[in-house]
Amino acid sequence: MINPIEYYNSEELVEQYIQKDLPFVKKGEGELIAALEGIPYNGKKALDVGCGYGRDVAFMRSLGIDAFGVDGASAMVKKAQEMYGSFFNVLTFSNLHTIPDNAYEIIHNSNVLVHIDEEDINSHLEHLVRILKPKGVLILGSKEGVGHSVSKTMKMERITNLHSKKKIGEKLECLGMELIEKPYSLSKPSENAALLFKLRAIKLG
Ligand SMILES: C[S@@+](CC[C@H](N)C(=O)[O-])C[C@H]1O[C@@H](n2cnc3c(N)ncnc32)[C@H](O)[C@@H]1O
Repeated sequence: MINPIEYYNSEELVEQYIQKDLPFVKKGEGELIAALEGIPYNGKKALDVGCGYGRDVAFMRSLGIDAFGVDGASAMVKKAQEMYGSFFNVLTFSNLHTIPDNAYEIIHNSNVLVHIDEEDINSHLEHLVRILKPKGVLILGSKEGVGHSVSKTMKMERITNLHSKKKIGEKLECLGMELIEKPYSLSKPSENAALLFKLRAIKLG
């Protein structure tokens, strides 16, 4: 079994990821715009945690957001820097504690919880909330479910962790976040059988 950072840490995999992602870029941009609805985001400081090749950071910057990205796979970060500039750094989730409290007004965490197991999910969410400023917004999306599955890509076996939107939402509420349901809801994408969830929440205080 390969760990997620090893999995993403090859130029070949990064190129493959980008090619697979291309048809969905516009849809993702639409979702991000919807998630930012009602939020005065212009000039705000954002961090994309697990930013991959930097697509969402680049889009947020095009909207006037002062966005940056971190990812544990240096091959992803290198590609992001080549494509979009110096807004990216290598940082693993286990090093989120190095980011100061209340540092960002927007935290984006998309398609990332699949790489975090049940044991570590609460601590991951605690860090996301901790680094968010009061009244800041957390935008999060992942695969709905319980447990995990094993998949094989490019001859590498890896684990996909599923999490329930309800449990993630409850944990965020315990951490002082207010969930904003609209405009997000569960959706069933046509490209795969996985049920995805999207969630946004505002930090109270
Ligand atoms: C499915 S990709 C999503 C990338 C991007 N958010 C997107 O939506 O295209 C998951 C990303 O999480 C990163 N990742 C996985 N485990 C990580 C960890 N422990 N620390 C930091 N990044 C990690 C991977 O390197 C990969 O870029």
